[in-house]
Amino acid sequence: MEVNIFLDNLKTSIYGKYTKVFDILESSNTKMITDLNDNINLPEGSVYIALKQTAGKGSYGNSWYSNNNLGLWFSVLLYSPYKKDVLSFLPGIALSKYLREKYNIDAHIKWPNDVLVGYKKISGTLIQSIQKDNKFLSIVGIGVNLFHKVEDFESDIKDKATSLYIETNKKVMLEDFYKEFIKYFEDIYLSKDSLVDLFRVYGKMINKDIKAVKDGKSFKVTVLDITEDGYLIVNNDGIEEIWTSRSSLDIDTVY
Ligand code: BTN
Repeated sequence: MEVNIFLDNLKTSIYGKYTKVFDILESSNTKMITDLNDNINLPEGSVYIALKQTAGKGSYGNSWYSNNNLGLWFSVLLYSPYKKDVLSFLPGIALSKYLREKYNIDAHIKWPNDVLVGYKKISGTLIQSIQKDNKFLSIVGIGVNLFHKVEDFESDIKDKATSLYIETNKKVMLEDFYKEFIKYFEDIYLSKDSLVDLFRVYGKMINKDIKAVKDGKSFKVTVLDITEDGYLIVNNDGIEEIWTSRSSLDIDTVY
């Protein structure tokens, strides 16, 4: 596909100004990391878009089904001032805001970085970091389900996943969706607004009871808030705890 359609009328000042579009990749994150390690010079805000991914990577070692043209699969390179845990909110906040404002969809961010519509996931973010020439680089990989019908999802995620098409019955143009979304993403990044405050606006978990499985044990806890470092503060049976990591933690989406 022509890279120009992803550049024409792009309203950002940094993000996506250098963009590569690949018909097929294993994973846009992996490709960007390989290129950086091969000393290919990529400016801040570089974007790799994969139209299909044969080995899309999800969080916590999961795979991300994307060997199809049904979504927006891309990675952005950030030289970030944020800590990784807080940075991981940024794409989800931007996408929730974009979907609410442009499509009137009740999208919300589930800690730390899934975007849900109702109880179903429409997007996820995988951030990988590398150190290069004394700089910390974040490769922010984002997947957004756009064109799926229910039957297009693999059976293990059918009940838990949704797409823009399922929510709106509209078929958007991939490049238009991308250009508008990445503008929201950059605006929030440059605004220096507190991502923790925005998480409170675009999340729905605070003051809710959630069911979670942590290290194999089931809990019902109340979410009190998040910390400035982006960790979850919960009340677990009268005791306040801070949950720092999503790994080994499975949070029920119904809350
Ligand atoms: C999650 O498990 O929720 C994270 C999913 C991240 C998927 C995106 S698609 C583009 C980029 N390349 C990958 O291999 N993964 C991310």
